Amino acid sequence: MHNHQVLKSMHRARFNAEPALFVAPGRVNLIGEHTDYAEGFVMPAAIDFATLAAISPRADGKIALYSENYGEERHFDVSAVPTMKASKHWTDYPLGVVSILAGEGHAIPGFSLSLWGDVPLGSGLSSSAALEVATALAVLSVIKASYPGPQLARLCQRAENEFVGSSCGIMDQFISANGKKDHAMLLDCRDLSFKLAPIPPHVALVIANTMVKHSVVGGDYPTRRAEVEAACAVIASHRPGVSFLRDATVDDLEQWGSEMSHESLKRARHVITENLRTVAFAAALEKGDMNEVGRLMAEAHTSYSQDFEGSCMEADAMVELAQELPGLIGARLTGGGFGGCTINLVEQSQAKAFAQALGALYAGQFGIVPQIHICHASDGARALS
Ligand code: GLA
Repeated sequence: MHNHQVLKSMHRARFNAEPALFVAPGRVNLIGEHTDYAEGFVMPAAIDFATLAAISPRADGKIALYSENYGEERHFDVSAVPTMKASKHWTDYPLGVVSILAGEGHAIPGFSLSLWGDVPLGSGLSSSAALEVATALAVLSVIKASYPGPQLARLCQRAENEFVGSSCGIMDQFISANGKKDHAMLLDCRDLSFKLAPIPPHVALVIANTMVKHSVVGGDYPTRRAEVEAACAVIASHRPGVSFLRDATVDDLEQWGSEMSHESLKRARHVITENLRTVAFAAALEKGDMNEVGRLMAEAHTSYSQDFEGSCMEADAMVELAQELPGLIGARLTGGGFGGCTINLVEQSQAKAFAQALGALYAGQFGIVPQIHICHASDGARALS
């Protein structure tokens, strides 16, 4: 049902009110993994999987949240917003956004919000960012306020960090809010400056879901982030100017790596080299040097898998199996890690055959039928008419 007219009719029938409609996309990251919270570089694209939001005001002081995906409607009192806490439920994401907006001084009115999305959950394609950004646009429309895209992304990241309790960086919310059709984005996570890079028309984005799920809340993501930050603290004790690994070099690791835990040293090596690869990848894509693009993706995957230990057997196999197939430019695990999806850049003319063959090989090896999607880089969040 990637159709906002359907969501509109459902909202009308459920809440007896005419809604305004908004969409926010998920994303795929081409390269630059676990670099965002080190103030480094990332290169994602918004994709044509998205969350749709339909919103209408209500006069009874309630917030009604309905998710078509969960088939569930919940009600909350507007007066309770200032003291709300996360409850490990899907409503945490929209309520987190409302809570951050309230904290910014906006008076929150009652409203009914219907949500539906097709971003596969927990697969590294940022379903939560899409949900947050769609909610933010919808709620802002009711309170008649707006923010420029970068600030909108920051507010949604804060909803996730401060309310939901996940220590994610800025990448997902930023690309969901600011993506551009047919483009990837080189984002500098230090100052949020960015450069849009056209994806050449002969290149297809083939996203292969290992069907193995990961979770960013709790678990391995915060552990990795802490290891990265511990490595940075060691370097900073010698070079006080280094407050994030963005400023560190491979030489720093050679000099002071022995003072770090074995894990921290490896994680830091991934982050430092990944930043260099991401900038080099953007330059290679701009030049149309697809050999270099592919080489950097392969190197990035090895680094993510071996130094960062953010991959898993299924994702490594998905990347490995792709290497044999005609049309491949480059493949790597995308997103937060520990499962989820690989991104394959593939010659457009061979993308369908590639997707079929990869699916068959993976199913043959694991007995799991993967979902493989040929995606397109899409525009960022916006109102729909
Ligand atoms: C998740 C987080 C992002 C980023 C990636 C890893 O998607 O939400 O902020 O850290 O993992 O690159």
